[in-house]
Amino acid sequence: MNYNDAMELLKKYGQEHLLAYYDELSDVGKADLLSQISKIDFSLLDNLNADNNQNSQRGSFEPLGAVTINDIQKFSEEYKTAGYDAIKAGKVAAILLAGGQGTRLGFDKPKGMFNVGETKDLFIFQCLINNLMKVVNETGTWINLYVMTSEKNNDDTVAFFKEKNYFGYNGDYIKFFIQDMAPSVDFNGKIFLESKSRISSSPNGNGGWFSSMVRAGLLDELKSKGIEWLNVFAVDNVLQQIADPLFIGAVIKSGSESGGKVVAKADPQERVGVLCLEDGMPSIVEYYEMTDEMINLRSEEGELLYKYGVILNYLFNTAKLEELNQKKMPVHIVDKKIPFMNENGEFINPSSPNGHKFETLVLDMVHMHNSCLPYEVVRNKEFAPIKNPDGVDSVVSAKALLKENGIEL
Ligand code: UTP
Repeated sequence: MNYNDAMELLKKYGQEHLLAYYDELSDVGKADLLSQISKIDFSLLDNLNADNNQNSQRGSFEPLGAVTINDIQKFSEEYKTAGYDAIKAGKVAAILLAGGQGTRLGFDKPKGMFNVGETKDLFIFQCLINNLMKVVNETGTWINLYVMTSEKNNDDTVAFFKEKNYFGYNGDYIKFFIQDMAPSVDFNGKIFLESKSRISSSPNGNGGWFSSMVRAGLLDELKSKGIEWLNVFAVDNVLQQIADPLFIGAVIKSGSESGGKVVAKADPQERVGVLCLEDGMPSIVEYYEMTDEMINLRSEEGELLYKYGVILNYLFNTAKLEELNQKKMPVHIVDKKIPFMNENGEFINPSSPNGHKFETLVLDMVHMHNSCLPYEVVRNKEFAPIKNPDGVDSVVSAKALLKENGIEL
């Protein structure tokens, strides 16, 4: 793309200001800026128009039960056998979503590099690998692990895994891929510049993981390896059970297209997305979308009906995802503090949200499936997310839970 092509494209979307400093740039800077412009997905900007934003329209919700902890105990042998069979046949891979920026934690490196150890090193990535190793040891099978990073944290992440010798995992079974970026805009829809030659962008949310895998050429690999099931999970839950044979077995046995690990809500008001039905299809209703009536709805036995909160641990089927990959996912617009360069060429670090970012979310994939099995896990054994430095879902609460589970810090 040359200057004239770029200007023409930008004019179409009212974004000519991105070339305001072009003449001041070196040849390298100019080429770099033009290349960034050529990669912008301008269709994202359409979502700023409320009529085009599919999120604003939700369907009608109904509660959905779960395979409960009691059910799982009852059928544990059957689930385990089915799960082991799938893992041993090489049909299961794990996908670690580690492309986020973890702004709430305020750690300046990839979140997985955060050290939760007290008397020794224990990094978040290490906790996850240790958890996956348990299944490798039980089944005698190395499980392929694909790690999604972003342009911002890929180099640090890859170097860290290498430096730590993959925390004892077999490096041949770990692959990294980089997720796509989305531009950040001000409240008037103008794309921010970060510097005279750099357009402000951020990872495009965790919903793009499968399309990013496809773009990275990994679908062919999944197919050639015969990987049928993908267990997707977040980086921040240090008690996360990955490639859990019982979960995999339960989903396979149920005939569901997908599955999601859930925990019973601690109280009706807990701020967690709930797995339910929307227009008869599985879906996740966010806590802020629920009416008081939904929040407090109970069965005759007094059980909450919108009871099962998701913990970002899903099992998806490769063939189904390939089919769904043709469909567009809803784009969420989130307000964030976005550092930018103003019209006087000054760099500004705002103290309150000053613009929008665009994200697709993995939870929206659930609604694209005909069925999703909610699979209940014991909260204190499998859910210790690290979002904040302290308080709820924090380093402090996660450390306490690790200790409660006998993990030395
Ligand atoms: P979060 O919703 O906690 O987002 O991500 P975040 O960006 O990491 O953290 P905050 O909100 O800025 O504090 C849930 C999971 O999705 C991954 C994260 O790495 C985490 O595992 N994620 C999120 C991505 O892989 N890519 C993204 O663009 C966003």
